[in-house]
Formats: sequence, structure tokens, C-alpha cells
Amino acid sequence: MRLLFLGDLVGRAGRDAALKTIPHLRETLKTDFIAVNAENASHGFGLAPDMADALFAAGADVITLGNHAWDRKEIIPYIAQEKRLLRPLNFPPGTPGAGAAVCALRDGRKVLIAQVMGRLFMEPLDDPFRAVEELLSRHRLGQTIDAALIDIHAEATSEKMAFAHAFDGRVSAVVGTHTHIPTADHQILPGGTGYVTDLGMCGDYDSVIGMAKAPAIARFVRKMPGDKISPAEGTATVCGALIETNAAGLAVRMEPVRLGGRLRPELPSVG
Ligand SMILES: [Fe+2]
Ligand SMILES: [Fe+2]
Repeated sequence: MRLLFLGDLVGRAGRDAALKTIPHLRETLKTDFIAVNAENASHGFGLAPDMADALFAAGADVITLGNHAWDRKEIIPYIAQEKRLLRPLNFPPGTPGAGAAVCALRDGRKVLIAQVMGRLFMEPLDDPFRAVEELLSRHRLGQTIDAALIDIHAEATSEKMAFAHAFDGRVSAVVGTHTHIPTADHQILPGGTGYVTDLGMCGDYDSVIGMAKAPAIARFVRKMPGDKISPAEGTATVCGALIETNAAGLAVRMEPVRLGGRLRPELPSVG
């Protein structure tokens, strides 16, 4: 199975690039499943229901959120109805929406996808390791599910890497989101789990993690309220990873995908 995961869509630039590129990537990479993180799609903060609809229409199978999940309040009733939109699994019990979903492909194969949020340099939350242990006690890779993808939405590289090793061999891939900067450590861990510390954002890289430079710099230079931070609007680079799995659901390929904008392009060749 071939699965594509795109990192945080930031603002209009990221959204438009993703909407345009998803159908193209689905065709050229012959993907069976596409997930995107869209916690910053709405002007950098949150996701509006019409944007989620547009991403699903373009070919996204699942959308994940993160710490910006509720920045657009209209998403709260929407997520209660839409099983393909996920917020972190380790949000407190009773939080609207779900943190995991099992999606059936047209041929009947099943993909488990979940998002957890890290706790290092982030808001305090329930233990993401325990949340995924509990989830995997109900789903067995290669038995009840054909592939499993976990999005770890976290700041610290150490926490992301520890998390991936903790579940190595039990999920198809662990991909990091949230930092908005792609890392170059795409690998298949010894147990067969594909891993990358951060997918990188889909956004304008002539920016400060997707936001316009001047107000973002001012935040570091002056300890005074300044101009509102808003997304940079130049051409976006679409960033993500392609994961290919075998019959056991483990990764046999884990490669970067980067298209458009300022970063050097990377497009895996698919025979
Ligand atoms: Fe983000
Ligand atoms: Fe985030």
C-alpha cells in the first residue's frame, strides 16, 4: 500500500498548493491513502469547515489537527460529525471528535490513523505513549488492520524519536508534524516502522515557519505587543512523505516528497 502524508498546511498559500497538488500526487505516486495536517490552514490558526470539505474533495482521506485544533470554533460541531477529521488522541476524555479512525479503502483494506500530541514544550496533556498503547491493544497490524499511521504532533525531536521507537514494528509509520520544518531523517526503523521527525509544512518557506517575517522577527527583538502575525503569501512548498508498506503492514519505503516553492524538489519514483 502506498500512503502519502502532508505536513501542516499554513494559510492560503499552503491550502491552495495542497489543493492543487493532492490530485497530481495521487496520480503520479499511485497512492492508496492520503492524510494531511491542516491545523494552520485558516490564516495560520485552525481549520474552517469549508476548507476541510475542499481538502476531502481534492482527495484527502483524513485530516489531522494539533494544538491549533479549536482556533476556528466552527470546527467543533463539524468534527463531532466528521470521522475523517482527527484531533489529538490524548486530549482529555469528553473532548469533541476522535483522535483515531479506521478507514476502509475501496478494496476493503483498512488503514488505522491516529494523531497524538507531545508534551515537551507543549501544553500538558495525557500521556501520548499510553494513549497509543491502549489504541494498539484494539488493533493489530497485519491482522485487524492493513496499515497504521501515527502523526506525532510535537516540538521536541527527542520525544518524537522515542515515541517512534516505542512503537517500532507495531505501526507502518510514525510521522512528525508541528515544527513546520522538514527533517532529513526519513528511515525505516529496525522493526519495520517508517519514521521522519517532521514532515515540514506546506507553506511559503520565505517566512518564519510560514508566517510573514517582519512581525515574527519583531516578536523576538521587542518585548512589546506588535503587528499581528499572519501567514506569508508567497508560493508554497508542499512537504510530506511517501510510505510504502508490505503485506504485513510494515514499511518498505519511507521517502520525502517536496514540490514547488523555494525548497529543493523531491519526488519518489513509482514504477
Ligand atoms: Fe502547525
Ligand atoms: Fe502545532
